[in-house]
Amino acid sequence: MKVLAINGSPRKNGNTQVMIDEAAKPLMRAGVKVEFVSVRDYDIRPCDACEECYTKPWQCPIKDDALKLLRKMAKADGLIIGSPVYGADVTAQLKALMDRSVIPYNIQAFKDKVGAAISVGAGAHGGQELAVLQIMTFFAFHGMIVANPKGGLFGAMGTADHRGDIKKDKEGLRSARDLGERMAELLRMVGR
Ligand SMILES: Cc1cc2nc3c(=O)[nH]c(=O)nc-3n(C[C@H](O)[C@H](O)[C@H](O)COP(=O)(O)O)c2cc1C
Repeated sequence: MKVLAINGSPRKNGNTQVMIDEAAKPLMRAGVKVEFVSVRDYDIRPCDACEECYTKPWQCPIKDDALKLLRKMAKADGLIIGSPVYGADVTAQLKALMDRSVIPYNIQAFKDKVGAAISVGAGAHGGQELAVLQIMTFFAFHGMIVANPKGGLFGAMGTADHRGDIKKDKEGLRSARDLGERMAELLRMVGR
């Protein structure tokens, strides 16, 4: 069993990473291998709508790192996707990756994977639900199975601004751990 954890933040080791790490703990305890990546380490440009990938699997004329990351996602049994809230949504870097995922969508390469969504915003009501919904909609679009923490509808959400502030958000960290536990349960259920 393997989970790819993608951080949509351009900030290295920021609050989103702490939440992702927290969600990964129960998975690793359950024997799931978790690989951590960040969009900041990949050059991913927006989709040009050329439609080449509609007819040619895994083909895209844009010469960047999107195919490399999308293939990595396709090889995982589950995806954790975390993003800071930017303008009440996910970051533009993560959205570019989501748009380019029409490439694996055309061959249903993400179907039946388990997905877990995480967001962190500076405001208590800064748009965390909207960012998480964007990620959960992405999972649904790909025919994935969506994990949620106990008592929650919107993945795991945290409130923090400056780097490291999230460590004070005990409820946010708890939601991330619960999300990881549920993801491990779902991975077991689908037999991966
Ligand atoms: C360009 C930009 C836009 C932001 N927009 C929002 C917002 O709409 N709502 C919010 O609550 N926080 C917003 N924030 C704050 C970040 O979500 C917050 O600092 C978060 O903890 C950053 O996570 P990171 O450390 O993983 O990058 C914004 C920050 C930046 C840089």
